[in-house]
Amino acid sequence: MKQARCLIDKNYIIDDINDELFGSFIEHLGRAVYTGIYEPKHPTSDSKGFRHDVIKLVKELDVPIVRYPGGNFVSGYNWTDGIGPAKSRPKRLDLAWHTIENNSFGIDEFADWARAAGTEIMAAVNLGTGTPQDAGYMVEYCNHPDGTYWSDLRVQNGHTEPHNIKTWCLGNEMDGHWQICQLSAEDYAKKAREAAKIMKWVDPSIKLVACGSSSSRMPSFPDWDRIVLEYLYDHVDYLSLHSYYEEESTTEDFLASFINMDYLIRTVGGVIDFTKAKTGSKKNVKLSFDEWNIWYQKKQSDHDWQSAPVMFEESYSLLDSLVMGGLLCTLLNNCDRVKMASLAQLVNVIAPITTKPGGGILKQSTYYPFLQVSKYGRGKALKVLSRTPVIETKQWGEAPLLQMAATMNEEAGSVTLFVLNTDINDSINLSLDMRSFGKTEIIEHLIMNGDNLEATNTFENPEAVVPGYVPVNTHSNDGGVFNLNLQKLSWNTIRFSIPKAE
Ligand code: AHR
Repeated sequence: MKQARCLIDKNYIIDDINDELFGSFIEHLGRAVYTGIYEPKHPTSDSKGFRHDVIKLVKELDVPIVRYPGGNFVSGYNWTDGIGPAKSRPKRLDLAWHTIENNSFGIDEFADWARAAGTEIMAAVNLGTGTPQDAGYMVEYCNHPDGTYWSDLRVQNGHTEPHNIKTWCLGNEMDGHWQICQLSAEDYAKKAREAAKIMKWVDPSIKLVACGSSSSRMPSFPDWDRIVLEYLYDHVDYLSLHSYYEEESTTEDFLASFINMDYLIRTVGGVIDFTKAKTGSKKNVKLSFDEWNIWYQKKQSDHDWQSAPVMFEESYSLLDSLVMGGLLCTLLNNCDRVKMASLAQLVNVIAPITTKPGGGILKQSTYYPFLQVSKYGRGKALKVLSRTPVIETKQWGEAPLLQMAATMNEEAGSVTLFVLNTDINDSINLSLDMRSFGKTEIIEHLIMNGDNLEATNTFENPEAVVPGYVPVNTHSNDGGVFNLNLQKLSWNTIRFSIPKAE
């Protein structure tokens, strides 16, 4: 059996893990909103039309912040179409996705939904067809108490209290040719800077996210990020990263997608450091990984000019859930730089939750690694010092066969080790040194694995891919040095008790 060693030490702390690392995303796209979170005639819906079977799962995932309303959609969206009496809201062509937007759901409904789901909003403003002034008006509508045109309009529309949205994205993927009103880095940076000034004058307490490159494959990567930051460094709090993964070459390469995510974070982190030095700024701009997931982008759907058609409804497999585990480890291991992230997306569209119109709800395979990391990955991230066998991948070069992350919650007296074993053939024996913690025991070992990597959950067979348990007595503990047998192709969540902080 292959051997690996690792050490985690209570004093080797990467950083506090921000809760916002477990954020997600709802776009006006496909059935994310309509028949996703919002379906007035559904049996579980409340008087506002919010599906409570969905809210229950969003609460279980404990998603602290949700990005809205796009995505590509936002670059052609006039947010005022989505406010006021439902009957007078216009139906529009959505040019981003070639659908019809009926606007019966807008920012006021989303604010009510977010409250019901116990989550915060990360709002995006339109910097495609929209102007900096429109962006400022939206902040005024949402956050100003009352006594002005836009804030009084919100009150008139039934929301006496401001929505108090604290985080705002300055547009979306403005480097992309697919974006409505794509801009050059310089033109975007100037427009975003003027929007930022207006938005912060309206509400100085808000945090702003500038558009970084929409992927590391863009020809302008990472120059786009550098130029944008040179104009915006002192005006924004975060720079965005986006990345989607799919099986493009071998299964081994797909499993090692975390290497690319790590590379992206380190490269853009370097650009931030460079710009900080160049501008002489004292502040640290953080990263917002506000679109990440597994997405089989080559699959197209035929849906032109329908309202809320089925689009990008992935049926995620066991393999996809393993890949997601690896990506989650990378986010944790970089939590000193990545302070927010959004799993794109939350319901129906490339999502861990699938709904049937008028019917039931399904947890996709990827629901589970996200749930486990959201539940047990809070607190502080610990550095995992490891020596593991490696393989040579086609896309990413050398990759460790084990991808790991460790988190510690001293108040609760717990440490969790997350491990993805990407080895296609073998189990790996991991010698884990936890002696620095004092008396340590394994509480639970959850595992996702199986013979069929293509297995998926369906409404007919909803538990085809769910976590199981490894009996903890199969692991030995020699004075805080554990011997863990990690099955081939498995995602593991191993929870330990440690002495609680005094
Ligand atoms: O999440 C789906 C789409 O992917 C978003 O609208 C866009 O920002 C990205 O290209």
